[in-house]
Amino acid sequence: MKTALITGITGQDGSYLAELLLKKNYVVYGIVRRSSSCNFERISHIQDDIKLIQGDLLDQNSLIEAIEDSKPDEVYNLGAQSFVPTSWNQPVLTGEFTALGVTRLLEAIRLKNKNIRFYQASTSEMFGKVRETPQNEKTSFYPRSPYGVAKTYGHWITVNYRESYGLYSCSGILFNHESPRRGLEFVTRKVTDSVARIKLGLLKELKVGNLEAKRDWGYAGDFVEAMWLMLQQDEPDDYVISTGKAHSVRELIDTAFSHVGLNWQDYVVTDPKFVRPAEVDVLLGDSSKAHEKLKWKPRVKFEELIMMMVDSDIKRHESSAKL
Ligand code: NAP
Ligand code: GDD
Repeated sequence: MKTALITGITGQDGSYLAELLLKKNYVVYGIVRRSSSCNFERISHIQDDIKLIQGDLLDQNSLIEAIEDSKPDEVYNLGAQSFVPTSWNQPVLTGEFTALGVTRLLEAIRLKNKNIRFYQASTSEMFGKVRETPQNEKTSFYPRSPYGVAKTYGHWITVNYRESYGLYSCSGILFNHESPRRGLEFVTRKVTDSVARIKLGLLKELKVGNLEAKRDWGYAGDFVEAMWLMLQQDEPDDYVISTGKAHSVRELIDTAFSHVGLNWQDYVVTDPKFVRPAEVDVLLGDSSKAHEKLKWKPRVKFEELIMMMVDSDIKRHESSAKL
């Protein structure tokens, strides 16, 4: 029986990864930050099956103790300040969590047990102002936000600990992935939740930013499988994980409104408040290496994903209306 330690277990990906590892009979530990109110909504259904340890990516000793207490075979570093706009408001904190937090965790592993396998949650945001299309593992980085810059540091320190100390450390360069558990401020979930509320008569309009931005959107449940696969190989390596199809925010909105029989133009307004100081215009991934070496392929298609999210938001609002 293997043991895994997950940072960011209360987040979207952490909850899906914990479910996947439990199905594979892992003992699953998660690091959680102390909070004045409970934020275990995404893991409440598996809370009795996992073990939670208090810790923070800002606090070196808490990470060392988490490694000592859990004695993991695998560590998945999913914890981060992950919302791009917040990284302009809090660039230093974003750097502490999202960049230096990776080094703190790698140091804990280096000190306690160099045989631990390590996964770093890297991102397509590192490609930013893209140098080529589609983007693969060899495409150079040009991050466009403090978040993207911090993640680029996290990526290279993961590569560096592999090369400096021989750690089995992998970086998964994941393109956008979504689900009914996606945070409400990210554009897919903002749209699907608003469409649900508009359909149920609870909201009148949806305010968004740049309609022309394009993303390669996949399903989080598919993407966490790739994280696990990366840690099961003979050699550590870095992989791009994507669907290979890009859609614009406008198409996302059209798909979501059409699913409930509404015309998006009647409800959507643009608001400069949601436009970013520097935008990532188009992201499109080439995950041929993951297809070939990990035998990984995404299952859920864009339209299915958006319909799944709209349906889930409608159901949630209907149930809370009945309470
Ligand atoms: P998410 O839902 O925002 O979850 C982030 C998690 O990090 C939460 O559990 C949060 O805990 C935790 N966290 C934040 N600051 C922390 C700190 N200082 N110490 C310990 N934990 C901390 O993000 P996600 O969508 O699941 O993404 C998972 C990871 O993949 C992130 O690193 C993200 O940047 C990266 N990524 C995501 C995507 C995507 O499209 N989803 C794509 C590429 C890469 P609280 O609940 O306490 O806030
Ligand atoms: N959030 C948001 N809200 N985005 C909007 C809006 C809006 O009202 N209107 C337009 N957008 C556009 C953004 O400008 C961006 O181009 C695109 O929608 C996607 O925005 P997000 O859903 O916030 O995601 P992201 O691409 O910036 O970042 C996500 O994906 C990265 C991987 O590429 C996050 O999950 C990051 O943590 C992740 O690394």
